Amino acid sequence: MKEYKVGLLGCGIVGTGVVRLLQENSSILEKKLGAKLTLKRIAVRDLEKDRGLVLAPGVLTGDFRQILADPDISIIIELMGGYSPAREYLLEAIGNGKHVITANKALLALHGQELYDAAARNRVEIRYEAAVAGGIPVLSAIKGNMAANRFGSVLGILNGTCNYILTRMTEEGAGFAAVLKNAQELGYAEADPTFDIEGTDTAHKLSILISLCFGTWVSFGDIHVEGISSVSDLDIDFAGRLGYRIKLLAIGKRYEDRIEARVHPAMVPACDPLAGISGVYNAVRLTGNYVGTVMFYGRGAGMEPTASAVVGDLMAIARNMLVGAGRRTAPLGFLDKNIGFVPIQPMGETVCKYYLRFSVLDRPGILAKIAGALGENGISIKSAIQTAKSGGGFVPLVIVTHEAKEIDVNKALDRIGAIGITSENPALIRIEDDL
Ligand SMILES: NC(=O)c1ccc[n+]([C@@H]2O[C@H](COP(=O)([O-])OP(=O)(O)OC[C@H]3O[C@@H](n4cnc5c(N)ncnc54)[C@H](OP(=O)(O)O)[C@@H]3O)[C@@H](O)[C@H]2O)c1
Repeated sequence: MKEYKVGLLGCGIVGTGVVRLLQENSSILEKKLGAKLTLKRIAVRDLEKDRGLVLAPGVLTGDFRQILADPDISIIIELMGGYSPAREYLLEAIGNGKHVITANKALLALHGQELYDAAARNRVEIRYEAAVAGGIPVLSAIKGNMAANRFGSVLGILNGTCNYILTRMTEEGAGFAAVLKNAQELGYAEADPTFDIEGTDTAHKLSILISLCFGTWVSFGDIHVEGISSVSDLDIDFAGRLGYRIKLLAIGKRYEDRIEARVHPAMVPACDPLAGISGVYNAVRLTGNYVGTVMFYGRGAGMEPTASAVVGDLMAIARNMLVGAGRRTAPLGFLDKNIGFVPIQPMGETVCKYYLRFSVLDRPGILAKIAGALGENGISIKSAIQTAKSGGGFVPLVIVTHEAKEIDVNKALDRIGAIGITSENPALIRIEDDL
């Protein structure tokens, strides 16, 4: 039986899962592949760390370059994370003619083009199914059986930590800070959760999805990114009363001359399947011009689901090697020469309905002033909720607008801020009724 030797860079959460999967499922992998996948070397930082794995002596090494240069190893899996040295190691592996697999969405979102170009020059494969939505095989579907479509939109709930926090805030009426602290204690949120809760991780994944769906490079810095740290329990409560759930959404839409690419908390109709994605689960919804709308759902992170995606990539590469087919599919599904650059629409041009919550002085005439400022900027009000008077001080006033352009909403909010009737900046949450 043909045998392919594999090198692993990094053996943390995902790496450990990959080692376990390869050991536990070796027989089924061989039955499906007709070849043997042997993990020859694993490079880590700390050789003394207990990884709970049974490995043959000499497999674990601290010498990354030894793996990258080993002529016996034909496939390298990078599961270290971060930009450097992961980028340099991947480029070196590619330069040495090795096929590569990575789960590193941060690296791909910022340096993908460089890595794909290097892979093309060296005629090797670069695969990264685990980088977006962990165990959900959405990238393979976009490049594979859905490839015949022209995609119009891609939407997703792509960060399990954020979805877990928002789900608990919705179900328990708890505040953001308390749920985050508990999520950290339970291991659902990192000690430094900034990348997750501020939306950066979701934006990395959206950037990859947009390139695959629309065949365009993405200027990552142009993606509008807002996280969930400013979502209050009050907003979650009002969303419920209005028939919505708040989700951190990644939204990509394709127009002739531009794309929309934005990540922010959004109100989703409670009856929409996306509203029902709870806990650490992820979902991706794609619309293609022939297939229509398709939604994927599953575990977007964690040791086992992510390892499943990584080893799926490993099998795909091995299958191609078995028949000598090499790079049958370009990394982004489109031929490299056909990937263009479509600009991202400025956020001010976004058109949707808006939920605005003001903290206003509890006295007559306030609603009229706010409605006036909105009206002056061409924004019409769909509904308003004013809570019972509390005998002075500030009270919440919620306004839901009809469709409006974000730049006009911002102008109206500046005007309202200048009148001096509010105690804090208003909460603004976009309503995505038409997903
Ligand atoms: N965790 C998930 O659920 C998940 C899901 C999807 C994608 N991913 C992606 O998968 C990748 C790995 O994630 P992970 O959660 O498995 O990370 P992790 O648990 O932090 O493991 C990282 C591994 O890489 C090694 N490493 C890190 N930096 C290194 C450096 N500068 N030099 C040498 N070795 C280094 C570490 O060595 P030591 O063990 O010796 O410290 C460790 O084995 C990341 O790109 C992540 O975004 C993760």
